[in-house]
This record gives sequence, C-alpha cells and structure tokens, in this order.
Amino acid sequence: RTDATTDYYEITQRPGRAGILPGYSTEVWGYDGRFPGPTIESRSGRQVVVRHRNELPVPTVTHLHGGVTPSRYDGYPTDVVLPVGGRSAGSAGAIAHGSFDYAYPLGQPAATLWYHDHRMDFTGPQVYRGLAGFHLVHDAVEEALPLPRRERDVPLMICDRAFAADGSFHYPSIDSSLTGEPGVTSDFMKGVLGDVILVNGAPWPVLEVAAVRYRFRLLNASNARRYQLALDPPPPSGTAFVQVGSDVGLLGRPIDHEAIDIAPAERFDVVVDFGSYPVGTQVTLVNRYGTGSTGHVMRFHVVRKARDDSTVPPRLADLEQPSPPSTITRRMKFSRSGSHYETWTINGQAFDPNRIDAQVSLGATERWLITTNADHPVHIHLGHFQVLSRNGGKPGPYDAGWKDTVDMRPEDEVEIVVRFNGYRGRYVFHCHNLEHEDMAMMANIEVT
Ligand code: C2O
Ligand code: CU
Ligand code: CU
Repeated sequence: RTDATTDYYEITQRPGRAGILPGYSTEVWGYDGRFPGPTIESRSGRQVVVRHRNELPVPTVTHLHGGVTPSRYDGYPTDVVLPVGGRSAGSAGAIAHGSFDYAYPLGQPAATLWYHDHRMDFTGPQVYRGLAGFHLVHDAVEEALPLPRRERDVPLMICDRAFAADGSFHYPSIDSSLTGEPGVTSDFMKGVLGDVILVNGAPWPVLEVAAVRYRFRLLNASNARRYQLALDPPPPSGTAFVQVGSDVGLLGRPIDHEAIDIAPAERFDVVVDFGSYPVGTQVTLVNRYGTGSTGHVMRFHVVRKARDDSTVPPRLADLEQPSPPSTITRRMKFSRSGSHYETWTINGQAFDPNRIDAQVSLGATERWLITTNADHPVHIHLGHFQVLSRNGGKPGPYDAGWKDTVDMRPEDEVEIVVRFNGYRGRYVFHCHNLEHEDMAMMANIEVT
C-alpha cells in the first residue's frame, strides 16, 4: 500500500522451510518465512512503514542497519516485540505484543541498507536462523548515473553457516560453551563460523552473466567471518572491482580494487566488467581468507555477448567532507575483559541498557579514536562517519566514503569523524561480530 508520502509493507516473522542443501530441508526463522527476507526498495525522502508481525516463538527486535531512524523505531536491543498470542511474562520493556509498525523517514541518500534482528543477548542466534534482508534506498543522484541497472544491479548477501546432520542450521549453544566443553568456549568467544558459504541463501551459487558490466551490492551478513573477495581468473584487462559505494552511500569517485576485504555488516557497492572475459569463462568469486569450502563464494558463468550501455563515470556524487574537530572527543577501546577475560567490553564495561556511555548533542560532529585488541567490526547506529586515519597513517584501502561500520584488526587504532544528525534519543554502538555483541560489547549513545 502507498499514499502521497508513505509506502507501507507488512512482514511476518515466522518459521519457514528452505531447500538449502541438496536433499535436505532446513528450518529458517525468516521475514515472511524466507531467508534472506524480502528486499525492500525505497526512495530517499519517502517514508516507509513496515509492520512486523512476530509469529516466532521468541521476542524479536528489528533494526534497519545504516538507517537514520528515530530512536523509537531503531530497534534498541530491549525494545522487543513479543510473539503473537504469547503470554506477557517477561514483557517488561516490550514495545509491542504481536506486531509493531516501524516507521523509517529515510531522508538519507541512496544506499544499500539491510535489516536484521537485534534482540539483546540473542542477536547472533536469531540472525543465524535467517532474520536478515536487504533494504535498498534510491535517489535522483544515483538514478542519473549510467551504472548497470535492473537485472544487472544485483544485491549479494554473503554469509556462512554450519549444518547439523539433519540439514538444520547448527548454532552452538551458549550454555554448552559457558559450562566449559573444552574448545567450545573459545570458539564461541571468537564468534561463530560455518563451513558452508551462502549467497542470498544458496550455497556457492552460479549466476549466468552476459559479457557486460554488472553492479553488485556486496553485503557481509555473516555473524563473525571476514572475507577477502577476489575474482579467479582475474579479468584479462582492467581491475576486478570498481567500487562505487560504501556502507551508506555513493563514493565521490570510483576506486579500483583487485580484492576487497569485507568485515561483518560492511557493504561494498562494486561494478564488475565481464566484458573482457571470453564467452564461456567460469569466474569464481573467491575468499582468500578461507580454505577449502570457505575459500570460494560463488561463480559467474559468462554465457553470451550483449550490448552494454553502462559506464562508471569518473565522478559519482558530491561527497561532503565533514570538518573534524581538532581534538579527540572520545576514546573507545574494544577489548576482552572481566576477571577471567570472560566477556567482551568497550572501555572495560559490559553493555548496560541503563548506563549512558556517550552523551552527544544533536547535529554534533565528533572525532573518535577507536582501539582494539582483536578483530572487531565496529558499528555505530544513527551516526555516519568517515575514517580520518588508520594506525597513524592514511585510511586503509577499504575505508573510503561514508560508513556505519569499520573493520578493525588486532591492535588497530582508527580515528573517525562521526556526525549525529537526525533525531534525539537513545542509540547503541557495538561490535558487529554478533557473538561479541551478544557478549556485551555494546554501549549507549544518548543524543540530546
Ligand atoms: Cu547491524 Cu546494531 O546492527
Ligand atoms: Cu545498525
Ligand atoms: Cu568484536
């Protein structure tokens, strides 16, 4: 349904069945019972209202990742929607019973956003079971560009899963990991990995392509896995990937990459030109950080020649350079701590919904210094940012543009300029390794 200002959607969160592995049926918890959930496409400046109805046996929270959204609709981890017909026990703090209308103003530039579950302490297992989908935002600037369109503009949700012998998703239980089966605890602490790579819910799929340019919106929706994506064979001429967009919008100018490092929750909007491959070539999208089954992601089969009227123009959008304050406003240290190193913390503290960790004025531009002791993709809600420096030098090759998530490696130090535009209220920032997030590596921002 749609009216003058708003597009309305209804999504039912429910169990469903998916044929993921040949010969098996896998239960998913999905938006409309599907994994990935339905892709929503919106226009910048038009409000979108999504009625999420919860027919799962557990409370849920839905977050639009990368969205500039009023606090009430942002999917704060304790703002749960209780199951339809569920009893009200444990409902303290619930914002709704059965269903809730999430309203997204989307007064932001064209970008590849995604929505996923965000329930406190259970985000990892709930996303793992399938609660994730794309939400693309388009605008006039993007539409005026001669980039590949329609069936040549393809969102790719990449994630890894492990399967049990009966074909169900295998997510290790936090109970067994905390009660100390040796080895399990530390695996869980690092984040849950799978040995099957799924793209849009299918294992190692093959996409038939024409020998022309395609736009791929790469999203790493894995709980914990980082990838280094490359093409094998590399194109006979030109670079493998021409990046045109980052997490929350178009770049100012395209950037060539021979390979792309992508951490959980990051998006890279890239153009691949299959025009230089001979028809008949099989091109594998490989993961250089993987081995064996995790070393490849999907395959493109170049099946025919076709006319290509797309190009990647040398200028894409006016990328505003926010002027950073001269001094560091906040320091954020992401580390493992607690008396037995039993949890993941920010500045030594585990998440507490009742503590404000950063009080920010609406419209403020801040300079943050983020440090880490392990791999942590650091994600901020509401505030979009640019990377100013990495380890005292220039930003890294994958840091360009407006971002909502920054890939941090062990002992990294990253300086960002972040702007909190939009709305007052309470938001979170956290590690997007979902097991780290569930183990309390999250903190509160209050925008006043
Ligand atoms: Cu994609 Cu707070 O999350
Ligand atoms: Cu987010
Ligand atoms: Cu982390």
